[in-house]
Amino acid sequence: MDIVLSGIRSTGKLHLGNYFGALRNFIRMQDENKCFFFVADIHSLTTHPDPRMLHENTRNVLVDYLGAGIDPLKSVIYVQSDVPETMELYLYLNMHAYLGELSKTVSFKDKARKQPENVNAGLLTYPTLMAADILIHHADKVPVGKDQEQHLEMTRRFARRFNNFYNVELFKEPVAYNFGEELIKIPGLDGNGKMGKSEGNAIYLSDSPQEIEKKVKKALTDSGPTVPDSPKPDYIENLFTVLRAVSTPEVVNHFDNLWNRCEIRYGDLKKQLSEDIIRFTTPIRERILEIEKDEEYLHKVTAEGAERARESAAKTLNEVRQVMGFKKF
Ligand code: TYM
Repeated sequence: MDIVLSGIRSTGKLHLGNYFGALRNFIRMQDENKCFFFVADIHSLTTHPDPRMLHENTRNVLVDYLGAGIDPLKSVIYVQSDVPETMELYLYLNMHAYLGELSKTVSFKDKARKQPENVNAGLLTYPTLMAADILIHHADKVPVGKDQEQHLEMTRRFARRFNNFYNVELFKEPVAYNFGEELIKIPGLDGNGKMGKSEGNAIYLSDSPQEIEKKVKKALTDSGPTVPDSPKPDYIENLFTVLRAVSTPEVVNHFDNLWNRCEIRYGDLKKQLSEDIIRFTTPIRERILEIEKDEEYLHKVTAEGAERARESAAKTLNEVRQVMGFKKF
């Protein structure tokens, strides 16, 4: 049985990108693996949320996890800050992570550009905290979207480096996982790169049908193709990528054919797209609305999850401390 682990930052509610990039696979993997899924609240501190928002968003991600179908009877669900062992491993891994490699990470360069007033050391060492999350449970597979690929490469490098330095075979080298397929990137509907919580272009799992319709209606289009079989511009391809995620192959084929014959009507495409997104998110939204009222259940899930996660993490940390030479006098 493989060990599976993944997390999502508590920076907002979860959207279709989080779902198709990561969450869908969390749910698919629960039956046949030992799974750990957590809310990465410490990682979200890199953007300086205020304390109320931090708590609210941690709760949002937890509720979305449960609403989407992560089952606490099958998987260990926990909040990152409830497992302080992770932060101790993060500290040790930082001693073997170098400024050159950390400052070259794409996500660091990206964030440093977006928040020049707050290029903190937590941003720089984001990949070592992520490696600690993964290595503390000896995970084999990490279901994530395309944007996390480099972080997984770094995790493998840190694991290898630690093993070589101490001449042990303690850490495994985990892989970014999507059932053997390319990792997923769901675009925003505004034609601007990926769908993201902070990009203002996301459709959330908890959006109402009216909100979804409104967002899809606003998606960027043009006056339509004039040459048969021409390639789609990025912003139209984006609509098709989302359609492929939520619709049947027949529907996608139908609109592809209309595009190729220059007969596509964007109004029809958008109508189909909203209908299919709504059909897909409605049962999830209904469960979210139920679960978010149940304080006792949320408490029970996180308390039990923390206990199980800490048990697994403490075991690894013990091994790490031994290997590093920490011994009692
Ligand atoms: P975060 O919170 O940015 O995103 C959570 C997950 O959602 C995926 N994702 C997407 N996939 C496809 N298309 C999109 N538009 C899209 N937007 C987000 C991300 O790839 C990710 O899988 N560093 C992680 C959180 C983390 C973590 C970990 C993950 C912390 N420690 C250990 C795995 C293992 C992050 O920022 O995710």
